[in-house]
Amino acid sequence: MSIDLLFEEDYAVLTINRPKALNALSFAIITQIGEALQRVSESQARVLIITGAGEKAFCAGADIQELTGRSLAEEKGGAELGQRVFLMLDRLKIPSIALINGYAFGGGLELALACTFRLATPKSKMGLPELTLGLIPGYGGTQRLPRLIGESRAMEMILTAQTLTAQKALDWGVINRIVDTSSLEEALGFARKFTRFSSVAVQFAREAVQRAASTHLEEGLRAEADLSTLAYRTADAKEGLQAFLEKREATFRGQ
Ligand code: CAA
Repeated sequence: MSIDLLFEEDYAVLTINRPKALNALSFAIITQIGEALQRVSESQARVLIITGAGEKAFCAGADIQELTGRSLAEEKGGAELGQRVFLMLDRLKIPSIALINGYAFGGGLELALACTFRLATPKSKMGLPELTLGLIPGYGGTQRLPRLIGESRAMEMILTAQTLTAQKALDWGVINRIVDTSSLEEALGFARKFTRFSSVAVQFAREAVQRAASTHLEEGLRAEADLSTLAYRTADAKEGLQAFLEKREATFRGQ
């Protein structure tokens, strides 16, 4: 196995473990990520953290060794596999955090873009260099990046194949935070900002925000009204409102 999946307390950690090839994504690894995501979706984890093994890379993208000599059907199948697995990640019921610990290029950055949040160490470097290979991003980059940072900057990143430093990635909104080290504690510290809330409310809020990028305003507002009404019906909302009125800390149970 070239990925490790660990469940601890209320979180899961998926590590791409192929440091000699800078954690490049072979098709076998992408399939393994899909299987791991299935296990995460069936678990009690409240957050998934994804990172790369070794000192140098989060993930250097699709395994370039595997990209030559394929039939048209295999080429399309490869893109569809990556897109399907990254969509599973995007649609997980729990939030995910990419802990970017070095290079995140091509499919590696696309993996991070499919996560809910991105944290990166100061020396991390990232970009979508597919055009340098005569290709274009194929695991969701052309769709998620403009939704995240706007068309103008996404177009610039993709068409110029430029490499962003962590600081520029932060300035452009590609990542949420620069973290001091690649230690798990950094991601967990960030995760605790939302895992202390009702997991149901977190899920509804995330779903509502995700609708904003994929629908027009009226439909998005209808979705927000529905999800907000559902939130009122939860035991956690009753507890949260009651706790405020009683001037005490709420205890959320994810119900
Ligand atoms: N696929 C396969 N192997 C890779 C790889 C990749 N994407 N990236 C790095 N490696 C391998 C190298 O071949 C090398 O292996 P050997 O030691 O056996 O020669 C090893 O990892 C270390 O890499 P480098 O010696 O190149 O390390 P470096 O520090 O000098 O450079 C780097 C690091 C700038 C990330 C450079 O490795 C690089 O440019 N990698 C390719 C990045 C890239 O173009 N990614 C996009 C892939 S296409 C894609 O992802 C399509 C899509 O949308 C899905």
